[in-house]
Amino acid sequence: MANFIPEETIRAIENAADIIEVVSESVVLKKTGKNFVGLCPFHSEKTPSFTVNPDKQIFHCFGCGVGGNIFNFLMKQDGMSFPDAALLLARRYGVDIPMPQMSSIQKSRISEKESLYALNRRVMEFYQHMLTKSSAGDKARQYLNRRGMTGPIIESFKLGYAPGRWDSLVNFFAKNKVSHALVQKSGLVVTKENSNRTWDRFRDRIIFPIFNSSMQVIGFGGRVMDDSLPKYLNSPETPIYSKSRSLYGLHAARRPARINKNIYIAEGYFDVLALHQHQIANSVATLGTSMTPEHVRILKGIIGKQGQVILVYDSDAAGIKAAQRSIELFKKEYVNARIMVLPAGHDPDSYLLEFGPGRFAELAEHARGIIPFLTDSAVKKHGLSVEGKIRIIADLIGTLAAIEDDVERSLYIKDLAERIGVDEVAIIEKIKKISGAGKLKVQSPGASVKTGLAGNNTGDGKGIRLEKQIITMLLQFPEIVPEMIKRNAIDLFEDKNLRSIGKMIIINDTIAGDGKGVSEPGKNNSGRIADILASINDPEIRSTVISLIIEEVDWDKNGCKKLLSQFENRYKRRDNTLLQEIRTAEKNNDHALLLQLLKQKQIQARR
Ligand code: CTP
Ligand code: MN
Repeated sequence: MANFIPEETIRAIENAADIIEVVSESVVLKKTGKNFVGLCPFHSEKTPSFTVNPDKQIFHCFGCGVGGNIFNFLMKQDGMSFPDAALLLARRYGVDIPMPQMSSIQKSRISEKESLYALNRRVMEFYQHMLTKSSAGDKARQYLNRRGMTGPIIESFKLGYAPGRWDSLVNFFAKNKVSHALVQKSGLVVTKENSNRTWDRFRDRIIFPIFNSSMQVIGFGGRVMDDSLPKYLNSPETPIYSKSRSLYGLHAARRPARINKNIYIAEGYFDVLALHQHQIANSVATLGTSMTPEHVRILKGIIGKQGQVILVYDSDAAGIKAAQRSIELFKKEYVNARIMVLPAGHDPDSYLLEFGPGRFAELAEHARGIIPFLTDSAVKKHGLSVEGKIRIIADLIGTLAAIEDDVERSLYIKDLAERIGVDEVAIIEKIKKISGAGKLKVQSPGASVKTGLAGNNTGDGKGIRLEKQIITMLLQFPEIVPEMIKRNAIDLFEDKNLRSIGKMIIINDTIAGDGKGVSEPGKNNSGRIADILASINDPEIRSTVISLIIEEVDWDKNGCKKLLSQFENRYKRRDNTLLQEIRTAEKNNDHALLLQLLKQKQIQARR
């Protein structure tokens, strides 16, 4: 689109608008020094690297590299064009955009999206009028009242009524000379293929306008008032409506959700109305779809890093299905989610109507994390017989294996083991089996072992990687332990945690094997691993051990010996380099460097 907005108007908008205020509406920002930081809305991250600078009125994400000014932010976030963003800000901050500057073509299509927003707003008002002011709306008003919806809710959600005629909107559009093209784009009418007969999409239905967070009307839902089908109809996807990033009720839920740092997600329009009606205003619903990554990001921007999402479902079965589907989504975005299941046959709407908000709050207290919820459901389903336990593990193993965070995974494994009374190692072995699809072999020391804790590419990263390989080997291939003891290699370990794991393995095996090392032939390695795990209390070290046990590697004695030699050689090389550096520093009389190198040498010697 041409630059019909004069340069000085753009400057005026820039001066009037406040980037902190605008960004704050979708990202929880915290002041740190001169800047504000928060979780980036454009990529998934656990620690904030999204920075907004109020002096320069710019944003930048150090994680994914996006950045720009307030216009760029809106353009990127809402997929707006530059003129759309400028118009939105101009309206919001009371800056006039001089219209005479525009050519007639420009005027006629200020922007397709702007026109659609405007059209939707007029249609919303038309439907509202039909509900509240016309006699045709009588039965719709009665219907809403019967379902417990009072005036304030009807008003704040701008509910409406679409009359039963085929041409209410068609006539309304004709009377108001709305262009045919725009009407088609709006999705509010249906046109039969190969004909230009057009009629209203929504007829004789309660109308729910759907808003974005700027309170623009982006689409509509409509419900019948009897048992006819389909029960609900929704706007199709349009240039301004995408259900994968819209949430019903978000405009009203945003503030309370931000204050409470949590938000309920229900399934239906009426659920949201009922929740708001009962002062549980931090509630939204997806619009006939399951959760998408966009939804999760929007929610994360509102509730913040410590926030919590509570999914409300009307049955165990629905909950389980949704839990399984959404778990990865929430984990990926590092959003803490819980699941709340209502008694059979109830959704939030019917439950609140029958039992009230107090009982709802009590149930909410007992909402469980996704994995504990799945565990409980599996226990309920299969029972705790031996058979049952096997089935429970089978149900959960995939979910556990998919958890990327090692600490988290090991904690859940431990919980499950305790909950159903099985050996932790048995669960780990199972996970190992299913995650061993891409099995690796270590015959030559050069081959890299995927440890799941991959180091970086620096020299040090390589060293740690080797150390991890060795610990993995000690855990999975006990025959090598005596060799390890003989070579005294564990003391050379650079990584403190890995060194202490190694020592624990050696101590454990020495005691178990009566001082002869562990190589009792035929001894079950699971039992041995269980002993080792039992002696570790630190959750982080435990999780490292578990992640190393889970790695699937084929070990053979020669490969193992080569691996050990490779490690020792590397160590010697480093030692030599250090000695060389010390000599050079001495020669150059570089005392500061010399001191530093000697310290390093001392640390190495202490190992
Ligand atoms: N839905 C839809 N299209 C349908 C049925 C359902 O888009 N044909 C969506 C609507 O957003 C609806 C939600 O799925 O609100 C849940 O549907 P359902 O459980 O069938 O209805 P309720 O929300 O319980 O509606 P009501 O209480 O009015 O019966
Ligand atoms: Mn319902």
